[in-house]
Amino acid sequence: MSLMEFQDVVRRRRMIRNYTEEPVDPAVVDRMLDNATRAPSAGFSQGWGFLRLDRPEDVDRFWRSTTDPESLLEPDEWLTGMRRAPVVVVPCSNKSVYLARYAESDKGWTDRDEARWPVPFWDMDAAMASLLILQTAVDEGLGACFFGIPPARTASFKEEFGVPGEFTPVGAVTVGHRATDLGAPGSPSVRRRRSVEEVVHHGHW
Ligand SMILES: Cc1cc2nc3c(=O)[nH]c(=O)nc-3n(C[C@H](O)[C@H](O)[C@H](O)COP(=O)(O)O)c2cc1C
Repeated sequence: MSLMEFQDVVRRRRMIRNYTEEPVDPAVVDRMLDNATRAPSAGFSQGWGFLRLDRPEDVDRFWRSTTDPESLLEPDEWLTGMRRAPVVVVPCSNKSVYLARYAESDKGWTDRDEARWPVPFWDMDAAMASLLILQTAVDEGLGACFFGIPPARTASFKEEFGVPGEFTPVGAVTVGHRATDLGAPGSPSVRRRRSVEEVVHHGHW
């Protein structure tokens, strides 16, 4: 259960791309997913779904279905580190749930016109749930990384795991015990965290 102050969880969270072989306690994965369902959602639609992969053969199927065969034959540092994670969670969004929810009488968008939405709230909600998964991993002393599934691989991934057509993976999250991290490919040396002064516009942009 909760081991850290919230501020420590926020400060310590970094994407971890290299893991040890040590398994992850299933109760911890339960807690991550339970926390994910505590995320806010537009209209309380909760149009998300999470694919939980925590058996070695399932994790292997994940990488086979989302990675091009040549990369699998000669995995780079990123893939080698990421593939060791014993748990992969795939948060998915479902736009149709939101269009139906907002067509209800309290919202009244009966035309189901997507142009009414300022940004895709269905993806946002899955992303908010994803952050809770990442933060729970940190709270449990584990590492995690959110990353994208290549668009060209989405169909093979969905087919492999029987994901229904209306669900779209917004990304995937590896979870495991941290090994020495490799950092973001090519980026940490040149990019730094932008300061509050740079990004906050107080009263007027
Ligand atoms: C929407 C999103 C997509 C990302 N995709 C990838 C990815 O495909 N591969 C990867 O290694 N990291 C990915 N990241 C992690 C970012 O590189 C990382 O969050 C960023 O460099 C800041 O580092 P930090 O999260 O460790 O503070 C992604 C993060 C987000 C939020």
